[in-house]
Amino acid sequence: MPIRQFQAQRMHAPRDFQSIENSPICVEIGAGKGKHALLFSEQNPQLKLVAVERTREKFLAMQKQHQLEGQDNLTPIHADALPWVVHALYPQQVQHFFILYPNPEPHNPAQRWLNMPFFEFLISRLQTHGTITLASNIPEYIVEAEQQLQKVWNLPYEKQVIASDSARTHFEIKYLERGELCQQLVISKPENYATRFDGFQPLQGQNTQVIEPKNVK
Ligand SMILES: C[S@@+](CC[C@H](N)C(=O)[O-])C[C@H]1O[C@@H](n2cnc3c(N)ncnc32)[C@H](O)[C@@H]1O
Repeated sequence: MPIRQFQAQRMHAPRDFQSIENSPICVEIGAGKGKHALLFSEQNPQLKLVAVERTREKFLAMQKQHQLEGQDNLTPIHADALPWVVHALYPQQVQHFFILYPNPEPHNPAQRWLNMPFFEFLISRLQTHGTITLASNIPEYIVEAEQQLQKVWNLPYEKQVIASDSARTHFEIKYLERGELCQQLVISKPENYATRFDGFQPLQGQNTQVIEPKNVK
């Protein structure tokens, strides 16, 4: 693969990290205020979902709504998804990843999910025949992701247009109300797909960053 290798072992544990058991789960990355996470966990009581959100206010909104609704198959997590995935998830553990309307990173293409070396690590956590759903209202974002899937990741996908009455997330509602085209790629992991992280076990809080007090000799 032409992309450089993700430095997983260098990832510091997220603050207050708690490990999870090695059983099949679904994971939403950048869950925002949790609209999709709450709906999905209600509609799929047989599946467990972990919803990760980095922005504190959005995470708190998701957590508050979760406390009201009480789905016991949903776990909201306040963390940056990269270190959380590296510390928490086992190889081939995840049934479905959801990345819905990620930040387009207009000035920083290297930070888009499929352009990051981290994406190889993410694929290693996915079960065979598991899927990654990536939705966007930006046609160029979808086109670039398709090119990465074909040229770099060598993964099959299906491209879908989101129905104009869909309302899975707050951003989806906003974009569809504006009449924008929303699309998603449902990426699947074929049998015998290998990554350089297939043997990498979760760090489980090792590598916790120790902040040394300043001026101590
Ligand atoms: C454009 S918003 C979309 C939110 C939600 N998925 C929706 O459609 O309403 C993107 C979200 O991803 C979150 N995010 C971006 N990078 C992240 C990361 N590395 N880990 C966790 N969350 C992240 C941001 O905080 C933001 O809430």
